[in-house]
Amino acid sequence: MTSSEIRKRFLEFYKARGHVIIPSASLVPENDSTTLFTGSGMQPLVPYLLGQPYPEGKRLANAQKCFRAEDIDEVGDNRHTTFFEMLGNWSFGDYFKHDQLAWFFEFLTDKEKGAGLDPKNLYVTVFAGDAATGIPRDEESTERWKELFAQKGIEAKYVDFGSEKEGSEKGMQGGRIFSYDVKKNWWSRAGAPSNMPAGEPGGPDSEVFYDFGEFTADGTPVHKLEFGAHCHPNCDCGRFLEIGNSVFMEYKKSADGSFEKLAQRNVDFGGGLERIAAAANNDPDIFNIDIFENARKVLEAETGKSYGENEKEFRIILDHIRAAVFLIADGVSPSNVGRGYLIRRLLRRAIRFGDGLGATQGKTSNQSSLSSVAQAFIEKYLAAYPQGHGLAEHANRILDEMEKEEKKFRVTLKEGLKELEKIMGSGHVSMIPPEQGDKILAVNEVDPVKAFFIYQTYGFPFELIEEELARRLIFVDKEKFKKLFDAEMEKHRDLSRTASAGVFKGGLADHSEQTTRLHTAHHLLLKALQTVLGPEVKQRGSNITSERLRMDFSYGGKMTDEQKKEAERIVNEKISEDLPVVRSELAREAAEKLGAEHEFGQKYPDRVSVYSIGPKSATPANPGFEKAYSLEFCGGPHVAHTGEIGKIKIIKEEAVSAGVRRIRAILE
Ligand code: SER
Repeated sequence: MTSSEIRKRFLEFYKARGHVIIPSASLVPENDSTTLFTGSGMQPLVPYLLGQPYPEGKRLANAQKCFRAEDIDEVGDNRHTTFFEMLGNWSFGDYFKHDQLAWFFEFLTDKEKGAGLDPKNLYVTVFAGDAATGIPRDEESTERWKELFAQKGIEAKYVDFGSEKEGSEKGMQGGRIFSYDVKKNWWSRAGAPSNMPAGEPGGPDSEVFYDFGEFTADGTPVHKLEFGAHCHPNCDCGRFLEIGNSVFMEYKKSADGSFEKLAQRNVDFGGGLERIAAAANNDPDIFNIDIFENARKVLEAETGKSYGENEKEFRIILDHIRAAVFLIADGVSPSNVGRGYLIRRLLRRAIRFGDGLGATQGKTSNQSSLSSVAQAFIEKYLAAYPQGHGLAEHANRILDEMEKEEKKFRVTLKEGLKELEKIMGSGHVSMIPPEQGDKILAVNEVDPVKAFFIYQTYGFPFELIEEELARRLIFVDKEKFKKLFDAEMEKHRDLSRTASAGVFKGGLADHSEQTTRLHTAHHLLLKALQTVLGPEVKQRGSNITSERLRMDFSYGGKMTDEQKKEAERIVNEKISEDLPVVRSELAREAAEKLGAEHEFGQKYPDRVSVYSIGPKSATPANPGFEKAYSLEFCGGPHVAHTGEIGKIKIIKEEAVSAGVRRIRAILE
């Protein structure tokens, strides 16, 4: 079955069950400074999971583009990718475990309306309970799964594993339903309960795994001892593939570390489209699904090498190019910081692996090999997707950006490698005999400051520097090297939470008081800038942390000191007027007609959430939009009255690019 057929069936299946289908959000999260990329379907929906009413109702579903940079190093096996599509459905305080598990099971197994998987190949996990938080074992899901399997004539035995370790010690034991601890069956953006910050929602989850069988086609056992004594659903040997995760989001962490129930019981489901397609093909290699087919053929033609003999390299190139295509489509360009750095890392890594396969020249067209691969992906997605995810409008820009980056990289590659040789030469590098393996690491004397210089001057991703060292059989104390390197990078970075440090892993949205105050101040500041500089000023980007707000806006020149002072004065004046901040739900068109600010190029659903500030008499029932001081499309969160903000101070205003300025303000 093709992946677009599965995507279509999923959305139709949930639509038929009362879900509103919402568009995929951008890979670049809006108004969320704590994460660089959208890594799961629920990320843009956090306010609604926390209880804010969603304009379109309590049941949603979509196919969300996701990018998980933390998986870069995992790419190369048969199932990890950095970019993927997550099929998701949500219940905001509506249906719960009973329907969620039944529907997903029906979707997976139905031959006409779903993925048509054989239920005998499905294994499920549930939450084993957690003594530390007192959150109990998920008996309800276990019972429900028993019923569902029984309906298919399968007697589903329950096996309790306290932990993954226990799973590998005990093995399957004829089980069908397995319980695991918080490490495996609890989901929040921050991971386990102990990692969650106050205010963060989370809950027990129930995962479904597809069993590709104990043996490969030629009869070799899939499980190897390096993965543990015995295989079990959460084993990494490759026999089982997780294809869906139903999170029962009904808890919130409190400031004192305990857990309280949210006002509503939510369902947050996410399943990897590519993985479900692999299961539907009964082939554990997700790179064998239709989405990769043409791109893989192009890469074979470009390199004259076969996928079968170069699986790891092919997978890395295919994954990285596909991710780059979607990231560029969403407005990210290669650079040395933040998101731009990630895309640079992906592209340069793909180029290096491509070089290794002999893919420097374009053989099938006059484009570079990797641009031809990108083109194959663009064509595939355009054919498969009615909306094309913005790839049609951006196809030329995507290919241009890629060619540009490749050219740039090739020019600097030579020079950079020379410099790298120099720093390695100047370093005190001890070689160790290969037979001693990785265990004994030589003391690395390669100066991280110098390595950082290479990174900065030549745009060599850290991993590339690391790989180049390894190619020369120079063994380094990687951890130390990376630590120093990260510390050095930190000093040079604007974004404090960075990709390379992997800090944004869970993608924590911050709903702290400070951030909320700055969020509302951000709206006031946009309006103040329009007042001082002219109504043509538009927001071009935003980033809010608990320490400061940052806004990119379109404007031709540098702001004078007087203009900055005036903008600051206006914001503080609006704060002292203590204007009510009101959230309303409107039809998108109506909101646009009212002139509500929204970010250019962003897709919005048919009904949108809008925040208005003022007039003084505004109430949710009677917001008085025509007299509002500020009106913006926004998901929140915001203070209820501007007086709660306190006082702000503009601390910096600078250029970002031609016609775009960046301004920062803090709370005083
Ligand atoms: N948020 C959950 C996940 O990412 C389910 O959608 O797995």
